[in-house]
Amino acid sequence: MSSGLLTDTLSERHFRSIAEVIETQVGIQLPATKRTMLEGRLRKRVRALRLDTLDDYGRHLFDRGRLADEFVHLVDCVTTNKTDFFREPAHFDLLRTKLVPKLCALPGHRGERPLLKIWSSAASTGAEAYTLAMVLQNLIAEGGRFDYAILGTDISTEVLRLASAGIYSDEMLEAIPAATRRRYVMAARDPARQQGRIVPELRRRVRFQRLNLMDERYAIDRDVDVVFCRNVLIYFDRPTQRAVLERLAAHLRPGGYLVVGHSESMSVAGLPGLTQVTSTVFRR
Ligand SMILES: C[S@@+](CC[C@H](N)C(=O)[O-])C[C@H]1O[C@@H](n2cnc3c(N)ncnc32)[C@H](O)[C@@H]1O
Repeated sequence: MSSGLLTDTLSERHFRSIAEVIETQVGIQLPATKRTMLEGRLRKRVRALRLDTLDDYGRHLFDRGRLADEFVHLVDCVTTNKTDFFREPAHFDLLRTKLVPKLCALPGHRGERPLLKIWSSAASTGAEAYTLAMVLQNLIAEGGRFDYAILGTDISTEVLRLASAGIYSDEMLEAIPAATRRRYVMAARDPARQQGRIVPELRRRVRFQRLNLMDERYAIDRDVDVVFCRNVLIYFDRPTQRAVLERLAAHLRPGGYLVVGHSESMSVAGLPGLTQVTSTVFRR
């Protein structure tokens, strides 16, 4: 690494070009206040590509036509992937006590063993999707007569790779209630590694795939029972939030639920076809 790299900055032109690409294609706003964060995150790409400076990276993207190749890395640099197991636990309590019983009673679900389809639409490294699987698997263990399939999607390929592996640090796994953790997490053989892996029984029920919430249409079933879209809308502007939510809601079955993060309920208010159930849960 050249010693000048840490003081290296992006020119206004390159910062604006990157911000525009990210805003139009990913939805994430990159105001000037995010510039230092972006520069910090892009430095590892400068090194990986053996370029000299951040502006060399800008030229690589826009003058040498490498934006398409670099897009996935750029996305990994601008996304915030913080997540936790049982984050905002009230959502999982509501799912267990109210939403699942109501969904199982819907006309389309009155079979022997209905299949509930759950979608974690900004899945990050998978904690939300596996939390859903743990809650539903516990219900089945208690006699619940339904089946379930969980889809986790995200725009970042890097987080999806981690999600599919299902391996987490002990620190992260601590958020899972002890009895549930014992049931669904295998400790590493070597305790020094301080990590555990989600059991195959749950990993089999959870599938991950790349999906950009900005896409006009996506190949997802239109009879999804519950869509979780939490802690991602905050990065989008108002019109983008509405467009993303309208598209998501169109994939819900009538009677299905949309769940957003606690700071995001304002963006759902008044969306046609949705009725508010709690401050952050909406029913189609
Ligand atoms: C902060 S995490 C939220 C994870 C989880 N939903 C939770 O609440 O714990 C936000 C995730 O949204 C993803 N994301 C950002 N823009 C996206 C887009 N346009 N399409 C799909 N996912 C996106 C990011 O890659 C990131 O993993």
